[in-house]
Amino acid sequence: MEKYDFDTVVPRRGTNSYKWDTPEQEGVLPMWVADMDFRAAPCIVEALRRRVSHGVFGYTRVPAAYYDAVTDWFARRHGWRIDPHWILYTTGVVPALSAVIKALTVPGDRVIVQTPAYNCFYSSIRNNGCELLANRLRYEGGAYTIDFDDLETKASDPKAKLLLLCNPHNPVGRVWTREELRRLGEICLRHGVRVVADEIHCELTYEGHDYTPFASLSDDFLHGSVTCNSPSKAFNLAGMQIANIVSADADVRTGIDRAINDNEVCDVNPFGVEALMAAYDRGEEWLDRLREYLADNYRMLCGFFAEYLPQYPVLPLEGTYLVWIDCRTTGVSSEQIAARLLAEAKLMISPGTIYGPGGEDFIRLNIACPRSLLEEGLLRLRKVLGR
Ligand SMILES: Cc1ncc(COP(=O)(O)O)c(C=O)c1O
Repeated sequence: MEKYDFDTVVPRRGTNSYKWDTPEQEGVLPMWVADMDFRAAPCIVEALRRRVSHGVFGYTRVPAAYYDAVTDWFARRHGWRIDPHWILYTTGVVPALSAVIKALTVPGDRVIVQTPAYNCFYSSIRNNGCELLANRLRYEGGAYTIDFDDLETKASDPKAKLLLLCNPHNPVGRVWTREELRRLGEICLRHGVRVVADEIHCELTYEGHDYTPFASLSDDFLHGSVTCNSPSKAFNLAGMQIANIVSADADVRTGIDRAINDNEVCDVNPFGVEALMAAYDRGEEWLDRLREYLADNYRMLCGFFAEYLPQYPVLPLEGTYLVWIDCRTTGVSSEQIAARLLAEAKLMISPGTIYGPGGEDFIRLNIACPRSLLEEGLLRLRKVLGR
């Protein structure tokens, strides 16, 4: 018997789950929004149980042990030494990004995004009165790379103030290499564009693709960037609403702190704090088993596509549990594919259109589920895409 169980299907319908309870039809299999169908690590469940049994859930302050958990984790796991004073906590990475944009731009400024990219990047930019500068990723030979020439052009726009880096990149599954990050960072430094690194997926990388914290590459990069992070993707804690912003620059931090307060996302809840500490302090072994399980899920999916759906290239999954699939051969939009999958196979996936320029002909599939659910999802995909 395995110590950790990723195979058991935990029914989630009826738990107010955004992923499972949004579809109104009966029997829909959701493989869209980015949370996992696994129970959290036993150490986290235990920590939360203890906190619940106390029975008093008043306003929460964040203890020194919280900062230790974050700094120890990043030093131990990723070789990045974070000073605890650099950390600001908030209720999620999206609220973090929004506060950072608010603090570091004025309305009318431009923000570079490497597209296709996580859909909330666009709303955060818009909500803060800024404009998008799309630095489209290059898709060639079945792989994505950064278009550095275009990035240089976009960064030289006098109104370009920030670049939202997604490392690893949702949705294309890239884990940026040190060399790519170095080149990107040099361009941004040269043009005075600050890098805002969304590293929420950083724990979920696969063999041969190590995550490099952007800010760890040099002192200049550290001071020219802000990093947003959370254990929420890797440990399946999205509903706990806890995330951190790391900035080594005191003035920048003051501005972000003000924005967090202005946006009223400065108070976290008691469960998020407990869950983060349990994850970072005691969740490492569980996480490594999870990564193996996800890698096996991806291998299975690739085998299935090779056998039954070879006309749809599956992009290499270097990081995240979000598989990006090239559907150009269908000749119809990803919105139409998503609608057909839902109507004809009761399968809910994410159409690439929502990820902006370059995403239109792709679909994104969340494979963070027990293998039996993945198998069922693949059969449903085949039913529609295989025609
Ligand atoms: C790149 C990226 N950033 C942020 C988030 C959401 O972060 P949060 O739930 O902490 O606001 C997601 C969720 O999928 C994501 O993929």
